[in-house]
Amino acid sequence: MLVRDWKFEDILPLSELEKQCFFTDCWSYRTFADCFDNPSFHGVVVEDEGEIIGYGGITVAADSADIENILVAERYRKGGIGGRILRSLIKLARANGAQKIFLEVRVSNTPALKMYLKNGFNGVYARNRYYSDGEDALVMYLSLS
Ligand SMILES: CC(C)(COP(=O)(O)OP(=O)(O)OC[C@H]1O[C@@H](n2cnc3c(N)ncnc32)[C@H](O)[C@@H]1OP(=O)(O)O)[C@@H](O)C(=O)NCCC(=O)NCCS
Repeated sequence: MLVRDWKFEDILPLSELEKQCFFTDCWSYRTFADCFDNPSFHGVVVEDEGEIIGYGGITVAADSADIENILVAERYRKGGIGGRILRSLIKLARANGAQKIFLEVRVSNTPALKMYLKNGFNGVYARNRYYSDGEDALVMYLSLS
């Protein structure tokens, strides 16, 4: 298994894999493509024998980073890959000068919540009806200093 940076030609497989995100606010091909115009964005993919099986993205602005997304292909979940992607993003944030990382997660998303808690994030506050279907988000925070 290989963890590497996103390449422009990954956009199609990434947007195909994103269809396994069953939420209302999944990323489109366009959203993935726009990341390449954003110098603050850093993305990693996990490849298994040439197939992309997971990915994550983070933006870093000054001393603060935001985790934008993490997804692992369904048949590879619960095997430690999500945690591996998360730790790669934390490393990228640190290498680009971030002192703190924030993210938003659906309050019902137990797998993601547990993954973030296990990797040192803490819940700080809720954002009511943050998502387009009305679900609340929990804002989570990790200090890197
Ligand atoms: C969230 C997600 C990325 C986790 O990926 P993963 O590869 O399954 O995660 P890991 O195997 O590294 O698990 C890390 C920890 O998360 C928790 N976890 C993961 N899946 C879980 C599940 N289905 N139920 C409960 N806890 C779970 C466990 O605490 C696990 O640690 P453990 O195995 O030592 O118990 C994956 O479920 C996914 O792609 N979900 C859809 C997209 C999504 O919701 N992304 C997050 C948006 S904020």
